[in-house]
Amino acid sequence: MSADPVLDLHVQAKRFGARLVLSDVRLQLAPGEIVSLVGASGCGKSTLLRVAAGLDADYVGRLTLAPGAGPRDVGVVFQEPRLFPWLTVAQNVAFAAGAPPEDARALALLAEVGLAGQEQALPKQLSGGQAQRVAIARALFTAPRVLLLDEPFSAVDAFTRMKLQDLLADLARRHAVTLLLVTHDIDEAVLLGDRVVVLGTQARGVVDDIAVAVRRPRDRRDAALATARSRVLDVLREAHAL
Ligand SMILES: Nc1ncnc2c1ncn2[C@@H]1O[C@H](COP(=O)(O)OP(=O)(O)O)[C@@H](O)[C@H]1O
Ligand SMILES: [Mg+2]
Repeated sequence: MSADPVLDLHVQAKRFGARLVLSDVRLQLAPGEIVSLVGASGCGKSTLLRVAAGLDADYVGRLTLAPGAGPRDVGVVFQEPRLFPWLTVAQNVAFAAGAPPEDARALALLAEVGLAGQEQALPKQLSGGQAQRVAIARALFTAPRVLLLDEPFSAVDAFTRMKLQDLLADLARRHAVTLLLVTHDIDEAVLLGDRVVVLGTQARGVVDDIAVAVRRPRDRRDAALATARSRVLDVLREAHAL
């Protein structure tokens, strides 16, 4: 890796009770990189993401952030938006960071994610896709260097999902933020990732790391993406994930 990683995680062992879930997994994220993480259901993707986010310290290994970086430099977006139902959209974005909802950055971020005019709405008034846009704006509010996303678009319809994928690629570029995207959608993994890391089942660790050398902005119809997709499917099949 040419530049120092913004996040360098080595999980030697992660257990739940007696059960070994992750063994000898190394994950390094270079500045500005987008890494997709795929693997069979239950192979430990969410567990790895929680460790990378600093939300789970109960493992053997080591998590290192870039010099000078702290917990605020790592943002997280989960599958469910996890908004406070009693707070407005703008309050949700600014609240966790202790800022007032009229904070100019909160309003600018909401405009950027396509929610101008919805600042005073309550979460229950939003669609699933809009709520996830708020969650992304909230995660970006502290200007993190790394954003970790755990199947963030799984609960939205296919059309909304495509729009959110384009938005995420755009935000990553504009905010120069490094992304780790856990997804079970191979098209999504390949469309967004500079590389696709495949996590094996039964604590086998990273079974492959596939570069997606396609220039940005990307066109989802690009034949080179279809080739990368076949490659990922082959690896998943070999790893008995399919
Ligand atoms: N809090 C927990 N306690 C016990 N087992 C867990 C816990 N969280 C996850 N697991 C188990 O660890 C394995 C990996 O889970 P997870 O990381 O959620 O997988 P993935 O996100 O790849 O589907 C699964 O077998 C799951 O049942
Ligand atoms: Mg998961």
